[in-house]
Amino acid sequence: MDVAFLSPAGAAPRAPLGAPRRALGVGCGEGAGLRPEATASAALVACLAGSRTSAFRRRQPPHRARVAARALGSIEQFKVFGPPEDPFEIETDQVLGVGGQGTVYLCHKRSTPNVKHAVKTIPIWRLLMDPSCDEKIKTIRKETEVLLKIQGHPNICECLGCFDAFRPGTSQAQYIMIVMELIDGGELAGFVEGGLAEDVVKSVMRQTTSALKYIHDKDVVHRDLKVENILVCGQQLTGSTPVKLIDFGVAKSLTGTMARSCVGTTEIMAPELVSAKLMIAPKGAQMKKHGPYTFQPPQQASPGFGIVTQRPDGKGAMVNGIEPGGQAAGFGVGDGWAISAINGTEILEMPFVKDFNEIGAGTKGGVTAIAEILGGLSQPFTMEFVELPPREFSKAVDLWSLGVTLYVMLTGKKPFADEEQIVNGQYDQSLLTRCSPQAQDLVKSLLRMDPTERLALEQVLGHPFLQ
Ligand SMILES: Nc1ncnc2c1ncn2[C@@H]1O[C@H](COP(=O)(O)OP(=O)(O)O)[C@@H](O)[C@H]1O
Ligand SMILES: [Mg+2]
Repeated sequence: MDVAFLSPAGAAPRAPLGAPRRALGVGCGEGAGLRPEATASAALVACLAGSRTSAFRRRQPPHRARVAARALGSIEQFKVFGPPEDPFEIETDQVLGVGGQGTVYLCHKRSTPNVKHAVKTIPIWRLLMDPSCDEKIKTIRKETEVLLKIQGHPNICECLGCFDAFRPGTSQAQYIMIVMELIDGGELAGFVEGGLAEDVVKSVMRQTTSALKYIHDKDVVHRDLKVENILVCGQQLTGSTPVKLIDFGVAKSLTGTMARSCVGTTEIMAPELVSAKLMIAPKGAQMKKHGPYTFQPPQQASPGFGIVTQRPDGKGAMVNGIEPGGQAAGFGVGDGWAISAINGTEILEMPFVKDFNEIGAGTKGGVTAIAEILGGLSQPFTMEFVELPPREFSKAVDLWSLGVTLYVMLTGKKPFADEEQIVNGQYDQSLLTRCSPQAQDLVKSLLRMDPTERLALEQVLGHPFLQ
């Protein structure tokens, strides 16, 4: 999905202040894996840094592969976990849901088999083969901390505890188990076909907004708000049915920093996130140009930044982790700027790494890749940059998703099918004409391209539609 890397001067890439550090720079989506070609191009790009990257040093400890291989099997051997005096037991034949992070099952405490809970089982053994496994596991553990931090609201699924599950006789955790209250009515997504009655929409909106306000007040952003992550308490959904927010898998604690990674589900992703992911300026924003600046050859001095590509198409490159006092910092180059040209050659639309499967690749006749150009630099070189808006995402991303959720509840349809529609803010407003003017106004006030213009949560709660 994403490519990442280049450590300035051979160090691990510098994470932005306060952002989680990663073994290898990670692109959009914190769980991004390292693609095989990343290693190949890391070799080339490492030349620029004048040193070997951490990709070479982080060899997989052999015992991990063995542990992971042994774990391959079923959940059965991990179904008993938690406090030894009264453990939890997973009802492995009762699957409540399957998500990107793991499977959710029914479970109970041994002492109270009739009191049912839900447990999200996150298989971390899968990550044990990954070179950046430690970082990724740390990220999952941070998520469980976030979950515990936001407990205590009637519209947020209660977490009863997070546990590591070990293979008997080992000390390497194979699963992280998140035990939650059981919510029996299923996903809101299962109720929205054809659109919901407005009194039901109002009730769900009020509850969801109240839950969001509670987590925002604790400086947590959900980042994956959608009808699949709102669960219904009860088999019927009426104007008085409670609903609860789940899935804080990509939620982020913002204390002291801003979120910088574009994660979550594309369809509900705010335009500022999509723009950053695609390395394009949001509609109406100016792309400011900088340079050319002349850098010393990589063999003599580090350029003072790392390079990543984060575009899904694998093209283009942006600078990542400006070193204070380095060459780039001296020119005033900003973190997250796209490189537009190297020695006068335009690279915005150039692939980051060569596709080694391509006919002709690896020969002089093949397509040039950015990593190749970087690897070939031996003289002073010039770089030109395009300044992209800062990759800082605020709580307003949840307000966009709240707008998408509202639209889905009212119409039964998703407003955006792809990234292009999102960055252009194009959605079918005609489906809303059968809704009340207040409902229509609330959708419009949330689906505003400029995050600063979206309604705040208090304004949503005070909006005429919710009165
Ligand atoms: N507490 C719960 N009670 C009942 N079902 C749940 C509960 N939590 C999750 N599920 C079901 O499991 C699915 C996946 O859980 P979720 O936390 O959203 O994981 P993912 O991050 O993998 O999407 C949910 O969409 C829902 O259907
Ligand atoms: Mg989910």
